[in-house]
Amino acid sequence: MARSTGSKKLKTAVFISGAGSNLKSLIKFSKLKNSPISINLIITNNPKSEGLIYGKIFKIKTKTFNFKKKNLTEKKILFDLKKDKINLVCLAGFMKILSKNFIKNFNGKILNIHPSLLPKFKGLNTHERAISNKEKYSGCTVHFVNSKLDSGKIILQNKVKISKKDTPKTLSKKILVQEHKLYPKAILKALKL
Ligand code: GRF
Repeated sequence: MARSTGSKKLKTAVFISGAGSNLKSLIKFSKLKNSPISINLIITNNPKSEGLIYGKIFKIKTKTFNFKKKNLTEKKILFDLKKDKINLVCLAGFMKILSKNFIKNFNGKILNIHPSLLPKFKGLNTHERAISNKEKYSGCTVHFVNSKLDSGKIILQNKVKISKKDTPKTLSKKILVQEHKLYPKAILKALKL
């Protein structure tokens, strides 16, 4: 993925469904002097998403969409992304699966963060599965989004050691710390900076 022209920052939308801690770390990253991105839009499917607070704090536009009619919703989102000249979409704890058509419209410009060392443990409950599988390590992955769930090209991963005492909750906390470091680095790598 190439960076946009000149020294202008790449307009980015972050899609969230929950706490938004990755969103917060991406906002921090975007505020760094030499950051290649600006975060211009936050999209959620969940009006109760705690992460929406960061829209208020940092004065970023937020939009909530009800995904009951998925096709129609995606059309509306695509319209908004184009209207706001968004060139990069970062999924960060976004719990809806985007359609092939949506992905095609934003081909190569959608990234996702997943809390496992892909290709291991695609989908949900990754921490439970890593622990019950007696894995020594887990971690997080940032990858390009393609039409297959959690299967696009891997950009970067951070590894975390699983200790005998770890529960899904403690493991998730350890991995989140790494996620917050990984996503900005992966964006730089995806933009070939
Ligand atoms: C993260 O673990 C992310 O990898 C997963 O959902 C969680 C979202 O956390 N897809 P947050 O909303 O960014 O705090």
